[in-house]
Amino acid sequence: VVKACIFDLDGVLVDTARYHYLAWKRLAKEMGFDFTEEDNERLKGVSRMRSLEILLDIGKINVSEKQKLELAERKNSWYVEYISKMNESEILPGVNDFLNLLRKSDIKIAVASASKNAKIIIEKTGLGKYLDILVDGTQIQNAKPDPEIFLKASQLLGVKPENCVVFEDSIAGIKAAKAAGMKCIGVGDSEKLWMADKVIPDFLGVDLKVLDFEGGV
Ligand code: G6P
Ligand code: MG
Repeated sequence: VVKACIFDLDGVLVDTARYHYLAWKRLAKEMGFDFTEEDNERLKGVSRMRSLEILLDIGKINVSEKQKLELAERKNSWYVEYISKMNESEILPGVNDFLNLLRKSDIKIAVASASKNAKIIIEKTGLGKYLDILVDGTQIQNAKPDPEIFLKASQLLGVKPENCVVFEDSIAGIKAAKAAGMKCIGVGDSEKLWMADKVIPDFLGVDLKVLDFEGGV
């Protein structure tokens, strides 16, 4: 039985993946190289510092640890500028309806996001009213694909991992969910997210049947 749904935030409930992409692309441009949407897939679900390292690797650029902190800070200030302008309209299609369905059926709702900016996004978009708990990047030591963030969510919810279903748009996140012993539903392109137990393109028209898995949860 599914007793809780744990949602990744960026790219699952809201389209902030786009803002992360714009900010990283802007940083890459300043350093003199191009950063494509395909490159960006590798950054989804990955922590800020690790994302920067991947970006620098793509641009074949070497910098000191101190410069790394400055670059990450610069990217983040642009990103925060973008997300500060967000509102309810940026909740992805079908999400409000699905979260309302979960509320009515007494299924708990958590957000587990690697982002240290998750609180601002939840505030700006009004998603907070649906949530039982939030675990964000400020509360964990080990980033996805480590299962820590999902295990922490399960613990705070008081629901065993086998009764939790995770919704994720990133490969790192799907691996983390599986490592936590949870079922995982990919949100997005099934060719990229084939590791998930099932994949939905988005939440439009999705109802509680999505939580039925062959062999049960
Ligand atoms: C999410 C996003 C990543 C991002 C990470 C850290 O997992 O999918 O692309 O790098 O959060 O976000 P932050 O807001 O702390 O830089
Ligand atoms: Mg994501």
